[in-house]
Amino acid sequence: VGGASPISPPAMAILPLVTAPDPRLKRGCEPVTDIDGKLKRFMDDMIETMKDAKGIGLAANQVGVLKRVAVIDLDPGGPKSKPIYLVNPRIVEASGEQSTYNEGCLSVPDIWDDVSRPARLTVEYTDEKGRQQTIEATGLLATCLQHEIDHLNGVLFIDHISKLKRDMVLKKFKKVAKKTEGANPLAQDDEPSHHIG
Ligand code: NI
Repeated sequence: VGGASPISPPAMAILPLVTAPDPRLKRGCEPVTDIDGKLKRFMDDMIETMKDAKGIGLAANQVGVLKRVAVIDLDPGGPKSKPIYLVNPRIVEASGEQSTYNEGCLSVPDIWDDVSRPARLTVEYTDEKGRQQTIEATGLLATCLQHEIDHLNGVLFIDHISKLKRDMVLKKFKKVAKKTEGANPLAQDDEPSHHIG
């Protein structure tokens, strides 16, 4: 009885998030060669997952898929919402000038730290319709692009902080992983400020 009408698109799905110290976060992702409806649906699910987790960016290996795909929306669900579908993104130019942002990550929940990165950069990518695009970014968008492209290269934001702090964070996450055995530590996350992704 009932059910979705055959012409309505399939409901978007919330995908399970991968958290540190899962080895998939340390693996480089493979370039995408086919941009089709299946990839678009996967990226829509990534956007839904990012929104649900209150992030502003998400890379495919954070949901366990080792492909060079990421999504960004600096105002998910808000009036300035503008989802960006990034396929095979790459940084082609970055400023020498740095800027610092207090970053967080959906795969390293409840940890924030200052990371300095180039303040301005140019990123080339293919969008969900297979079109070549170029973004010139500053501010939070520049930070977020670098954070997500790092993910696709197997790099976490905690790789940019001091070894001492990083070791403390990883020790904590190894303990949590052992205790919860796969349960999502985000379930207890009621922190109002956002993770970058
Ligand atoms: Ni992240």
